[in-house]
Amino acid sequence: MAQSPTRKPQPQDKFTFGLWTVGWQARDPFGDATRDALDPVRTVNELAERGAYGVTFHDDDLIPFGSSEADRSAHIARFKKALDETGMKVPMATTNLFSHPVFKDGALTSNNRDIRRFAIRKAMRNIDLAVELGAKIYVCWGGREGAETDIKDAYVALDRYREGFNILGQYVIDKGYDLKFAIEPKPNEPRGDIFLPTIGHALGFIETLDHPELVGLNPEVGHEQMAGLNFVHGIAQALWQGKLFHIDLNGQHGPKYDQDLVFGHGDLKSAFFLVDLLERYEYDGPKHFDYKPLRTEDDKGVWESASSNMNTYLMLKERAAAFRADSRVQAAIKDSGLDELATSTLAAGETWKDLEKDSFDVEAAGKRGYGYEKLDQLALEHLMGFGN
Ligand code: GCO
Ligand code: MN
Ligand code: MN
Repeated sequence: MAQSPTRKPQPQDKFTFGLWTVGWQARDPFGDATRDALDPVRTVNELAERGAYGVTFHDDDLIPFGSSEADRSAHIARFKKALDETGMKVPMATTNLFSHPVFKDGALTSNNRDIRRFAIRKAMRNIDLAVELGAKIYVCWGGREGAETDIKDAYVALDRYREGFNILGQYVIDKGYDLKFAIEPKPNEPRGDIFLPTIGHALGFIETLDHPELVGLNPEVGHEQMAGLNFVHGIAQALWQGKLFHIDLNGQHGPKYDQDLVFGHGDLKSAFFLVDLLERYEYDGPKHFDYKPLRTEDDKGVWESASSNMNTYLMLKERAAAFRADSRVQAAIKDSGLDELATSTLAAGETWKDLEKDSFDVEAAGKRGYGYEKLDQLALEHLMGFGN
């Protein structure tokens, strides 16, 4: 293959990055930072140059916690100027409700009522800024909403969690904002166990809210995989329920600490079928990379890894399209009966009564093969560049 493996990301690909991703200074529980802090203005410029569509931020990424009013305005003004100069967008923003010690036992689910009220106030303030910058999605990752011991009452904590979302939902409605919330599930880390640990838990929770239509999901590849779950299936269900408001793409090697690797640098085959799914069902929200450049990297490695995320997505998109277009794949899909899965079980006008009349050769049907081995291998061949 003479083709270069790198692609040219374009703003219309809608690739976005959090300021905290490339900006991660690589401080971990065992070691100090290995990189200098990044100026958000530089991040906007570097990402724009590489073809990104936009940036996202936690309030504290842009405006250090405790800044004076004057400093806050200055930080925002510089950031806005960089956005204007580059054409970069801010499609999403979020609140840091996990770094400051005040949130050590949670924010919306803290035992302390004043802390809960402070957390909601902090979120409301950053929602104003998010809307001012044009964001349509507000992510809520409850990193500290959880416990290390089951003596913390998860039942009443959910009451408070729901109350928090209802207050924020009412805030957005009363202000007339065009903004929706996206809950980001995660099973653990930093808490021993986090409330709303998976896509499924969050989907169930959303239906109990005063305004479920305002709230969807921001699932992250690694978070579902930390829980041992199939991310492609989770995303299929989120899409199917109209709840895939946003997505955090990254890589993870199975159930262990949250690795936040570059997209595709974990389970590559799952990443292939994920891109296939997102493209086939025309997910049109931002493709947001929530990853951490390895602690081993210097500044050059940081920006290389940013490009890798986008290039990997584009390469997988090409491979998935080639896989679907391959006549061998199309024939194998037919043989497997996968196309029949899209046909309803009852024909138009039929009821359960018609099922009682059916006669059917159960033994013959039990003998058929479904040909998934062949399809899976064809997928692998395309993924590895050996497709036709
Ligand atoms: C994680 C999370 C966070 C959140 C982000 C938004 O890796 O545990 O993904 O990065 O997405 O902080 O609040
Ligand atoms: Mn993560
Ligand atoms: Mn995330």
